[in-house]
Order: sequence, then structure tokens, then C-alpha cells
Amino acid sequence: MRLNKIPFDKHEQFVIRHQNPFNGGAPLNLLTQNHITPTNLFFVRNHGDVPQIDIDSYRLNIQYKNKTIFFTLDEIKNNFERVEISATLQCAGNRRQELMAIKDIPHELPWNVEAISHAVWAGIKLKDVLATMGVEKEAKNLHVQFQGLDETERLGKRFNFGGSIPFEKAVNDEVILAYEMNRKTLSPVHGFPLRVVVPGFIGARSVKWLNQIIISDEPSQNYFQRIAYRLFASHINSDNVKWDNCLMLGEMNVTSVICSPENNSRLTSGLITVCGYAATGGNRHIARVEISGDNGKTWTQTELEKTNCFAWTLWKVNLNLKKGNHQLIVRAVDSSANTQPKDVEQVWNFKGYMNNAWHKVSFVVE
Ligand code: MTE
Repeated sequence: MRLNKIPFDKHEQFVIRHQNPFNGGAPLNLLTQNHITPTNLFFVRNHGDVPQIDIDSYRLNIQYKNKTIFFTLDEIKNNFERVEISATLQCAGNRRQELMAIKDIPHELPWNVEAISHAVWAGIKLKDVLATMGVEKEAKNLHVQFQGLDETERLGKRFNFGGSIPFEKAVNDEVILAYEMNRKTLSPVHGFPLRVVVPGFIGARSVKWLNQIIISDEPSQNYFQRIAYRLFASHINSDNVKWDNCLMLGEMNVTSVICSPENNSRLTSGLITVCGYAATGGNRHIARVEISGDNGKTWTQTELEKTNCFAWTLWKVNLNLKKGNHQLIVRAVDSSANTQPKDVEQVWNFKGYMNNAWHKVSFVVE
């Protein structure tokens, strides 16, 4: 029995990874039931408390060189074309639990495979806003920096969450400033009144509670761009890290996951439906998902749903499994022929990002 009421209108079975700030996701039996994740099951990743926003005084502030423009929410809705995009968000920390099983990763959330969801977002194209600042024909090596209204504390300092994306990505049609999620007003926990949605990139760049955009010739200096969300080599740790020294994460990598059967579950014999999701980054899509019941010696191709790029691909396969102990492994190939590494050991990093090793579940058929 749950002692705490689940906040933010989330589903009663929502898996809470952290209460304050609130973080959690869907239980695996519900995660892949629908291509579009119902909002009450959509995962939440917050680094600070959800800010209280007074919509009358809310302004989006955009800066480029000496020019600053302010927009109210109504002006954003009325002055620009409304567009919809169907897109998956995935946190770079998804599947960190498997990395933690190899070596401890202190102070980070122990996500299983639920830090991913899919929604239909509506709002305006970021490129339309950039055009009002007169930057559409600028040199390619600019960056578009975002800041949210939530505050957090790191390294003894309080500051707002932020991040940036390269200008080249920002002017693509799929990058939007969203005020609706699943055809309803964006909810407080997902960024009301306005958030960025950057399909194909790690979730951290989809800044919620957006109040500032700066077009600049360098990436954001915010902690969550300059220090966190970087991919370090496996021998780097908090004692020898040079924070500025490694890959600043942008596009997601290819991954696939088994959601059913769940790890350590017990099933009755007969025809068993194995299912899960696969996802990739950039504007790539999933080309193949296959599973193995003999530790990778042979593979069976699964059935894929038809999707657009920027969307996860739900997959399934029916298997007749004999009584006894089983292990199933899944791996995917994307449209650039990217594949997943075999072992979690190969992708371990001390912040626990981007784990896309073959996903394995063990279970018993009785
Ligand atoms: N934006 C703000 N302002 N504050 C945050 O903590 N978290 C980021 C991103 N945007 C965050 C944010 C991260 S790490 C992820 S994965 C996504 O929001 C999660 O979005 P969601 O909570 O709507 O699922």
C-alpha cells in the first residue's frame, strides 16, 4: 500500500524515484501499452522544485547581440503558426541502474528503463522565433541557449536550470516551443507555460518553464551544459575529472529494451508475448530489433510498429518457451546502421549516462 498520494496528477502506479524534487516514471507493465504515453504516465525529470508561475507577469525574453524582445504567452500563441510534433523524450540517465550494478554512481537517480516517454506536442517552431531576431542567415556555429524558471543548487551555488543546442539543430522544423502536451495545456510538472522540445536530443535540452533564450557564439555556461550531461571515459572519476574535457551530449544513441517479461518474474508456460521499445537519436529511425534466447548465438527478428523519426518504436514477438529458467536479450539497429554494444561494462561512465548496451532480462517459466 502506498503511504503518499502521488503528486502532479500522476498515475497511482507511477514509480517515484525521488520525492523532492519529484522524479519518476511509468511501471514497466504500463510503459509500452500505447505509442503515445498518457500524460499521467509520462516520466518526470526535475532538478529543482516545480516553479509557481504567474501567467499575467510571465514573459519569454529573447536576446541576440544588442536586441532583446519580450513575448507574453498570448503573443506566442497568436503571433506564430501553431505546429504539432509527435516526439519521444528520453533522459540521458535512462538505464543507469544497470551501470550502478557494476560500480556505484553516487548522487545520481537509479533509473531502470522508464526515463523515456512519447507525446504529441504543440507550440511554435523555434526557427520562427529566431527569424524575428534576424538570425536565420547567420553563420552556422552559433548556439541557442535556454533557461528555465526553476532553481537548483550545485557546487554551493543557486541558479536556474539551462542548456543549449547548436543553431543548426535549432532551425530544424521539429524543434518547438511547446505550450500543449497530448492536446491539453502543458501541465506544471512538464513545464507550464512553455517548454522547449528538441526531438532526437537528450531530454536535458528540452528545457521546461522556459523564460529566456539567448543566441550566442558559445554553448550555455549553465552547470547542466558545461559540467553535467557530458560523456566521460570509463577510467574518469570525480577525483581526476576535467569537467570541460569531454563530449557535451546532444543526439541520443540507439537503444532497445524488454519491458515484458520483467526481470526476475515468473510466468506460466504457453505462448508468451515479449515486448518493449527501441529508440534512437538525430533524425534516424529504428530499422531492426532482434532478440536472443541463447546468449547472442542466434537472433529472432521482432515485429515493429510503423513510426516517424523522432518517435520510439514499440516492438513485440510471440515465443513458445519451455518450462525452466530463461534469459532474453534485445538489440536494435538504426537507419544509420548504428548498433548497441554487447556489455554494460563497455559503456560504464561515472555520471551514468547513455547506457545502450544489449538489454537482458531473466525469468522463470513454470
Ligand atoms: N528543464 C528545467 N527547467 N529543469 C529541469 O530539471 N530537466 C531536463 C529537461 N528539462 C529539466 C528541464 C531533463 S534532464 C529531462 S530528461 C527532461 O526535462 C524531462 O522532461 P519531463 O520531466 O517533461 O519528462
